[in-house]
Amino acid sequence: MESNETNYGEDANNSQSESDIKDPAKLAESLIKEAITKCIDPVTNCDLVSLGMVDTVDVHMGVAEVEILVPCQVEAYSNTKELEQIITTSLIDTGMVGQVKFKYSPMTEAEKDDFILQLETAYRGKNQLKDSTRIIAISSGKGGVGKSSVSTNIAIALSLMGYRVGLLDADVYGFSIPNMLGPGAEPIVVGNSVIPARAHKINFVSAGLFADDDQPIIWRGPMLHKALEQFLANVMWCEPDFLVVDMPPGTGDVALSIASLIPDAEFYVVTTPQKSAESVAQRSAIAARQLKLPLRGVIENMSFFEGDDGKKYELFGAGGGRQLADHLGVKLLGQIPLIPDLRTGSDIGTPITISNPSSAASTEFGKIADAIVQLGPAKKRLQALKVR
Ligand SMILES: Nc1ncnc2c1ncn2[C@@H]1O[C@H](COP(=O)(O)OP(=O)(O)OP(=O)(O)O)[C@@H](O)[C@H]1O
Ligand SMILES: [Mg+2]
Repeated sequence: MESNETNYGEDANNSQSESDIKDPAKLAESLIKEAITKCIDPVTNCDLVSLGMVDTVDVHMGVAEVEILVPCQVEAYSNTKELEQIITTSLIDTGMVGQVKFKYSPMTEAEKDDFILQLETAYRGKNQLKDSTRIIAISSGKGGVGKSSVSTNIAIALSLMGYRVGLLDADVYGFSIPNMLGPGAEPIVVGNSVIPARAHKINFVSAGLFADDDQPIIWRGPMLHKALEQFLANVMWCEPDFLVVDMPPGTGDVALSIASLIPDAEFYVVTTPQKSAESVAQRSAIAARQLKLPLRGVIENMSFFEGDDGKKYELFGAGGGRQLADHLGVKLLGQIPLIPDLRTGSDIGTPITISNPSSAASTEFGKIADAIVQLGPAKKRLQALKVR
């Protein structure tokens, strides 16, 4: 019976020698080695073998058993599905394997240190927002207008366009991103470093991932600043193209912190079509301007409801988004309809851009994401960046 075990923990050198090519068993082994070396960890965007996450691959009668090492307790590792999909596709594509089974083990402390070292080497240190990472802060002076729903769906829309996207829930007291993206995703804490949680191909971090649901967070201003600083500096964001930041309602401490930590964060204001909402929503824009943060656009949410009769009902009035955009001298990037599925999707952790990509709301989120890409990065200002 043919059986091959390759130990990656000891030997990550995968070159294919001439003698391998002549021997079918050796050829199979080297093809499998090559395939596994090409597998990229979706969270960190580094290859699994370099990260020390592949221990052994044992192939027996066309069935591959892959032993994965994770930098946390096995039960706490929540990213198995995407990882298994990547490895399975890669191994089956060799034509040498018909089925792939997985076994997980925790890394030793020394292996965890190596894992972090690999990441720090790959990304030149801890601070992992690259110069070209665009920070998209979704804000509004008004609560409940849909900032978190817009942040989540725009993050997904950008990711569907092929960008690597991080989502930072800066609403430290009123976090909602973990629920919206789906409970169950966990970050990994190794020493002082945090590997983001991941859901729907988005890396994200939220105070909600570190707090018990029923415990109120009572951090004051300086602690809030510290928390945001840690979210930016200690989290291994692994150089995303976009970091979407879900801002809390209002114009307070978080905007100040963002302004001092990432002065080139781009501000986008969410409002509803109501005229009265527009005047409250714009306060966050005015605060952003006072803090010299680039204000890039307005997004109108809950613009209309389309009945079964095809008629559009403007339940919250009309014109608020356009008026605010004109007032601020920026573009109105889109008008998202009121869709019951958008709310239920948020409640069950499956955003509408995932559950129904062809819905009117998803199309509009795609259009807004595209408009953000088209806007290009804001002009850099000469200011000491604290976290990158
Ligand atoms: N276009 C929409 N259609 C239907 N429901 C929506 C829409 N946008 C948002 N909602 C729902 O409205 C509620 C408030 O939305 P969300 O939490 O995104 O607002 P927010 O501005 O982040 O609130 P907060 O100020 O509390 O942070 C949620 O239940 C959400 O599912
Ligand atoms: Mg919110």
